[in-house]
Amino acid sequence: MAETPSSVRGFAEAGADLSLVGVSKRFPGFTAIDNLDLDIPAGSFFALLGPSGCGKTTTLRLVAGLEEPTQGKILIGGKDVTNTTSYQRPVNTVFQSYALFPHMTILENVAFGLRRRKIADAEKLAKEALDLVELAHVANRKPSQLSGGQQQRVALARAVVNRPALLLLDEPLGALDLKLRRQMQLELKDIQSEVGLTFLHVTHDQEEAMTMADTVAVMNQGRIEQMGAPELLYELPTTAFVATFLGQSNLFTGEVTGSSATTMTVGVAGVGVAGVGIVVPLDRAQVHRGVVTIGVRPEKVTLHRAKPSGSDRTILGPGRVMDASFSGVSTQYTVAVPGFGDVTVFAQNTSIGDNARPGDEVYLSWSPEHAFGLLDHPSASSGKFVADTDTGSLVVAEREKLEAELEES
Ligand SMILES: Nc1ncnc2c1ncn2[C@@H]1O[C@H](COP(=O)(O)OP(=O)(O)O)[C@@H](O)[C@H]1O
Ligand SMILES: [Mg+2]
Repeated sequence: MAETPSSVRGFAEAGADLSLVGVSKRFPGFTAIDNLDLDIPAGSFFALLGPSGCGKTTTLRLVAGLEEPTQGKILIGGKDVTNTTSYQRPVNTVFQSYALFPHMTILENVAFGLRRRKIADAEKLAKEALDLVELAHVANRKPSQLSGGQQQRVALARAVVNRPALLLLDEPLGALDLKLRRQMQLELKDIQSEVGLTFLHVTHDQEEAMTMADTVAVMNQGRIEQMGAPELLYELPTTAFVATFLGQSNLFTGEVTGSSATTMTVGVAGVGVAGVGIVVPLDRAQVHRGVVTIGVRPEKVTLHRAKPSGSDRTILGPGRVMDASFSGVSTQYTVAVPGFGDVTVFAQNTSIGDNARPGDEVYLSWSPEHAFGLLDHPSASSGKFVADTDTGSLVVAEREKLEAELEES
């Protein structure tokens, strides 16, 4: 059976750029994606990070052609694919569920798509893909004889073997336990740099996104809040959502009371206590006047037994240690500072003895260059969200699609 060229998803030598231009997706009474612009350069490992329900899977389904945008355009490799079917797009998807065919061997599973497309050398290519995920030695086993981590590697091989210009990964490691997950994160990154394809990886796990991706886009309620290299997002978050979703932050709100050529001072007035001027570099602050929210990461804050003197650091206190929890490499302190609320401090466990205990009076300090100023203020909707649980129906749909293909062949 000869397929027409337009329906053949050719083997990609390299990854393709992906662009979403003004894409919206509205379901009856609900906007899942709101005017989304996204540019993902060819060959990059890009992570879309956000809480459950923020629109990650919907975005992938739009890119894969399983869903039609209400508005906007999708370009792959510079070509407008908005009106093409999913079969015409050089895209493969890996889901959390492996959806392997139980009665086929691992090699047959990986070669399946190639055989369907009458590709010569299907077996040789499938073996190469299994080599890539280091599973050549289990080629003749059945999926049930493999561990969860191995099955996910097979699913990855089965997608990569088609050499899609764009590989979509929807929470692919979600079903694995933490240790295996961390290991697979590193392996997946190695595989991506080896094959040079464009990976769009979706996750609600901030550590996973930061470990793996060159670029992370933080998504919230159908919009991208901030996008950039992981270090940049972490060191300089621009919104309260990003500052609290990607790691933890201490946030303070106050009015800008003065500025120099390079810094501004924000007066954060404690209730019933003297106000403190918190200095923030202008180039680390999104807003330079009025009432602003500023933040500092817990590991940038130092705990002191006595008030530090003659220092160019920002000093808060005295406060009282409310909680100290030891986690091995560090201790997390919660310090109640009158007028400022609870401040979180991470202290590395490098000192011997003399750790602060609940009830102790302490001072806090940090270097002004670690402070950052946000565009907005904390709201009820910022903060951590529960893990995704709603991908189940999509997995079932994908499995049904594969089974339908299998029956046809
Ligand atoms: N077919 C659909 N009809 C109506 N609402 C949908 C549909 N698909 C997804 N949604 C809603 O869109 C929002 C985003 O969903 P989704 O993209 O699956 O989020 P995520 O993958 O980030 O958890 C959710 O509130 C979800 O309930
Ligand atoms: Mg999802």
